[in-house]
Amino acid sequence: MREATPGCRISAARGLQFRVAFGKRHSEGCGEPDRGSVKVTESGAPSIHIRAATSADVPGLVWVRNTSTLPGEDIGFGGGMGSPFDDASTLASAWKEPNVVGGAAVLVAEMDGHIAGFVTIEDREDELELVTINVSLELQGRGIGASLVRSVEELGRGQEKRAITAGTSRNAEGTPWKSLPWWLHLGYRVTHEEENEWTRAIGPDVREIRMRKDLDR
Ligand SMILES: CC(C)(COP(=O)(O)OP(=O)(O)OC[C@H]1O[C@@H](n2cnc3c(N)ncnc32)[C@H](O)[C@@H]1OP(=O)(O)O)[C@@H](O)C(=O)NCCC(=O)NCCS
Repeated sequence: MREATPGCRISAARGLQFRVAFGKRHSEGCGEPDRGSVKVTESGAPSIHIRAATSADVPGLVWVRNTSTLPGEDIGFGGGMGSPFDDASTLASAWKEPNVVGGAAVLVAEMDGHIAGFVTIEDREDELELVTINVSLELQGRGIGASLVRSVEELGRGQEKRAITAGTSRNAEGTPWKSLPWWLHLGYRVTHEEENEWTRAIGPDVREIRMRKDLDR
């Protein structure tokens, strides 16, 4: 399965099941509740609350997904290619309990009780790959995205991962997706650029900018 979150790479589903829950709501029956689970996080503004997604969040996730970029601005960067997060019935069908879509675990950011953003992550042995992150346009710039990233980093530390990795795109004209400076601001460094299955699906000469943040342990 491919997803087309602008600028962010989504790998083929690997059938991964996360052994630990991300957030208290899933701490029962998920393997190792005390090791590697992110406690419900209050970070940034007090009203931002990061937790594991549930299937009840499907409408909110689709809303975030469809309101995080301006229409068409992500064409050539990976947008418009179809994603399970594009519509509620597709997402509901793709949902694997407790919070896995396409092999990636889904965390949500709630603001004042409403879904404002989400992030998906894949377990890659020594690393966690932050696959995609979206915040609704009208709520961007309030610390929600940074809180989601910090929660993923906290999760990675709890699982004794070496690093968080992520990718964004550079279009055929050589322009990086607009989130690149944001990633750099959050402490991610560019490791290399590459062409791969995802970039070739977007179009010729598109590249993925691969990034990494080592976790201090
Ligand atoms: C990228 C995205 C997730 C960021 O979320 P957000 O909630 O707007 O980001 P935040 O408000 O948490 O960012 C806060 C921090 O980033 C900094 N920041 C914001 N925009 C920045 C920019 N363009 N360049 C550098 N730093 C930036 C802020 O100064 C702040 O830093 P501070 O905490 O040190 O004061 C959001 O804009 C989004 O969903 N974009 C569309 C989808 C997308 O591009 N996803 C990423 C694909 S790779």
